[in-house]
Amino acid sequence: MKLLEGKAIVITGAGAGLGAAYARHAARRGARLVLNDVASDAADRIAAEIRAQGGDARASAGDVSSWAYAAELIQACVGAFGRIDGLINNAGILRHGRVTEMTEADLRAMLDVNLVGAAACGTHAVKAMLAQGAPASVVNVASGSQAGDIALGGYGATKAAVASLTFSWALELRDTNVRVNALSPLAHTAMAESNMRHLAEQSASREVVYTTLPDAEVSAPAAAFLLSDRSIGVTGQVLRIAGNELSFITHPMIAEPVLTGDWTDEAIEAAFRQTLAARQQRLGLAYEGAKPSAAGYQKPRGDV
Ligand SMILES: NC(=O)c1ccc[n+]([C@@H]2O[C@H](COP(=O)([O-])OP(=O)(O)OC[C@H]3O[C@@H](n4cnc5c(N)ncnc54)[C@H](O)[C@@H]3O)[C@@H](O)[C@H]2O)c1
Repeated sequence: MKLLEGKAIVITGAGAGLGAAYARHAARRGARLVLNDVASDAADRIAAEIRAQGGDARASAGDVSSWAYAAELIQACVGAFGRIDGLINNAGILRHGRVTEMTEADLRAMLDVNLVGAAACGTHAVKAMLAQGAPASVVNVASGSQAGDIALGGYGATKAAVASLTFSWALELRDTNVRVNALSPLAHTAMAESNMRHLAEQSASREVVYTTLPDAEVSAPAAAFLLSDRSIGVTGQVLRIAGNELSFITHPMIAEPVLTGDWTDEAIEAAFRQTLAARQQRLGLAYEGAKPSAAGYQKPRGDV
């Protein structure tokens, strides 16, 4: 039996880039798909391509940041296939800007699509999934930039918010049939192309620099695994796929040592002088623990 045989799955932002790659891969693994994109012709094109190859895919045009449209999108899947087994909250946008350059309009646009859009689709999907009672999977889409990156503050913050949403939803749903994870992909897409002009300064500030960006198809098996019943028991994780590297992104945690005491002005200053100043957390894209080999530091292409 194929990995996603008969699964009814919604993929947002599936008209191009990573979303289209997830859709093509899932269709080949037997999934029945509703493909969203705000660009209606793009979603139509990918759905038609999948049908032409014998798959089952329908398009749904709309903006995921509309709570009402998100409900329609999930209902389109339930209406077409009688159920919803999976959702990839892939639709996203990127607007660059350092702290002194970020505009209100750009920040709100990213929050709307990246955070509110994922929350809207996820909320409606989880309600339907809980009512079904069968194993079901939500895959949110995070990013390495949630660790902080040059000119990616607003974007990275929306992706950190998506990761945090993932942790909370997984906790709330841990005794149910619904699991919630996030994927942190890496691919050469239109979005990644838009980041190229910032790459040199980003690379200079990163511990982890990728020499080339993989094709979008490289990230697709990780998404398919998280959607499939093979990942039952995996929840609340941010899975990172970056070319040939597969890992988890660590969760925000309370770092050791946990100091205890009566925290007067003087005691806090002393704690920094004696302990915390030397234990400041690392900033930006980095591997946990030991630094990577020299090969990991080569320039010049990075992810968004
Ligand atoms: N490319 C990378 O290396 C990379 C790295 C980390 C995370 N991501 C994330 O992966 C996802 C896909 O990225 P990509 O590189 O394929 O981007 P992309 O720009 O190539 O494609 C994004 C698709 O989403 C659609 N979209 C945008 N706003 C929408 C909305 N409001 N409603 C519905 N659809 C909408 C676009 O029309 C487009 O088809 C995004 O969430 C992105 O943040 C990408």
